[in-house]
Amino acid sequence: MQKGFTIWFTGLSGSGKSTVSKLVAKKIREEYQRNVEVLDGDVVRQNLSKGLGFSKEDRDTNILRIAFVAMLLTRNGVVAITAAISPYRDIRQKARESIGNFIEVHVNCPLEICEQRDVKGLYKKARAGQIKLFTGIDDPYEAPDEPEVVIYTDRESPEDSANKIINKIKELGYFS
Ligand code: ADX
Repeated sequence: MQKGFTIWFTGLSGSGKSTVSKLVAKKIREEYQRNVEVLDGDVVRQNLSKGLGFSKEDRDTNILRIAFVAMLLTRNGVVAITAAISPYRDIRQKARESIGNFIEVHVNCPLEICEQRDVKGLYKKARAGQIKLFTGIDDPYEAPDEPEVVIYTDRESPEDSANKIINKIKELGYFS
């Protein structure tokens, strides 16, 4: 069986997690002929985590569910890619421990840029007080201390960021 692993994206809403994770998935499928499954935050919240909110408790529940599925995929030789904000360091650490083959990717993009992009119009609502507990506005984001990869989506193309991640995976020996 091929070696399974999890690529764990973490970053603010609008930082580029979905875009880069989809590109990485495509490249790994095409260039390495591997089975890849993406667990995108928004998709998970419509299915596996339907009904959960954004308190720390609910976010932790959401992340532990994602980590559980990623663990199952990883131990069966699949490449699991997760793309949820996952704002809390302690739960990301738990995910790392339960999964084992874990590549943490910090999607580093200044809040100002995410807010300018405001792809879903949610920052505007958060600033207006219509959404509470919004990450980066009135809820914390704890950046990772020692991620395997940091991508800077305000100054790198998605292509550059994806290649950076794939090179790191190669270097760590997960494709051999
Ligand atoms: S996480 O904190 O539990 O990891 P997740 O990635 O699943 O978050 O969901 C984040 C998405 O939910 C955001 O991209 C945004 O579209 C939406 N969202 C709605 N309310 C909030 C909020 N209060 N904080 C952050 N994101 C929110």
